[in-house]
Amino acid sequence: MEGAALGHFNVADFPLLKAVLEGAAEVGVPALVGASEGERDFLGTRQLAALVKSLRDESGVPVFLNADHTHSLVKAIEAAKAGFDAVVIDFSALPFEQNVSRTKETVEAIKAINPAILAEGEIGDIGSGSEIHETTQSGGRSLTTPEEARQFVEATSIDVLAPAVGNMHGMVKSMVEGETKKHLDIQRISEIKRAAGVFLTLHGGSGTDDEDLQNAIVAGINIIHINTELRVVWRRSLENSLARDRNQVVPYKILAPVIDSVKRVVSARLKLFSASGSTKVSPARAS
Ligand code: G3H
Ligand code: ZN
Repeated sequence: MEGAALGHFNVADFPLLKAVLEGAAEVGVPALVGASEGERDFLGTRQLAALVKSLRDESGVPVFLNADHTHSLVKAIEAAKAGFDAVVIDFSALPFEQNVSRTKETVEAIKAINPAILAEGEIGDIGSGSEIHETTQSGGRSLTTPEEARQFVEATSIDVLAPAVGNMHGMVKSMVEGETKKHLDIQRISEIKRAAGVFLTLHGGSGTDDEDLQNAIVAGINIIHINTELRVVWRRSLENSLARDRNQVVPYKILAPVIDSVKRVVSARLKLFSASGSTKVSPARAS
């Protein structure tokens, strides 16, 4: 895939999942469906895996399933056993050495269950929560350095690295209104890519400047996570749908416009991610 990144979209209910599938089908590209520990607890880890498999088999749309932000060995093993294609192992809140040892242990455990599973590790601070925040959480946050990226990849044998490069989970109100945007450290992404030589994921994609996203792909980002943007449109379209007819009680009639609205955001993001300059999705050190 030249000049493109995979779109990763979090789901917390069936309408969101349908919207991601429909968006990917419309644009004609593969997509990653993600579920954090909270989203998995709500949907059911094995139930979500069964749903995605069933939708993929029936539709032929190449969608893959990621256990997003997994903070324990137990939860990573649970996802691997349920058939998830990838796990984001997130011990980034721990000091570097502990992050290395817990990540390494988890990579080994999930690869023993499924050698083909993709293991992602995370370093640096990208804030928490795909929610609407009062203020930007940028003050004093540590960005990933190329040297620690190299050391982390080498010590853990992860397939994918999630660095902190100016990205941040969630959106502030001005981003929701489209008045401000997140900006990325493109130079740092290039340097991390060169040093780490693995696939790179950009977390916290919601509200990021379009041009920065395209430049980030050219600099070496392979996967882009979007969650808050979907949650915002999910809520707004649900409110609109409910307000349209107060006597409407048929769930699939209320939810149909929600799926459609979320699908439009998914499609727009997928189009942007598949229309960047010319870079290779293959990481420098991968064959
Ligand atoms: O893992 C999920 C994300 O990184 C999404 O971040 O809510 O800012 O789009 P976001
Ligand atoms: Zn994330």
